[in-house]
Amino acid sequence: MKHLLIVYHSRSAQTHRLALAVRHGASQEPEVEVRTKTAFAADLDDLLWADGLLLGTPENFGYMSGALKDFFDRTFYPAQPHQLNLPYALFISAGNDGTGAVRAIERIVLGYPLRKVAEPVIARGELDDSHLHRAEELGLALAAGLALGIF
Ligand SMILES: Cc1cc2nc3c(=O)[nH]c(=O)nc-3n(C[C@H](O)[C@H](O)[C@H](O)COP(=O)(O)O)c2cc1C
Repeated sequence: MKHLLIVYHSRSAQTHRLALAVRHGASQEPEVEVRTKTAFAADLDDLLWADGLLLGTPENFGYMSGALKDFFDRTFYPAQPHQLNLPYALFISAGNDGTGAVRAIERIVLGYPLRKVAEPVIARGELDDSHLHRAEELGLALAAGLALGIF
């Protein structure tokens, strides 16, 4: 079994709904075990368990949520000796932008290091079926890639 970790934060449930869709997609791959953690609850042990990672956050003030930043703050240095090199992708909920959060995260994760294996899903405005569909596809793509050993 391969292990796929979903770490996310949500204040008003939009990113939470994306996370559920991502997990639903990933769960369609029987050879992958999926673990979902909120950003405040996730820690280094979760990263060491994972073979791949999906990170979700709202964009707040042109940046990631404080909760996801806290996850990075707590795990960055402890993760250094392990040189994780995990494949990852992002899902973002935003009022009208999302690019600031993506830019900030992409820069930080280079240091773990993590490897981007899919383009971010950015859901702008109220969630609709197309956002949820794209999130589900992202989850399935990560899980399938892990199961097939292509990442
Ligand atoms: C304090 C705050 C700051 C925000 N800043 C941005 C922003 O910079 N860019 C943007 O597109 N949306 C911004 N938004 C909108 C949120 O990203 C959007 O409502 C998102 O869907 C919330 O996700 P959540 O329900 O998972 O918390 C902001 C919302 C809040 C509450």
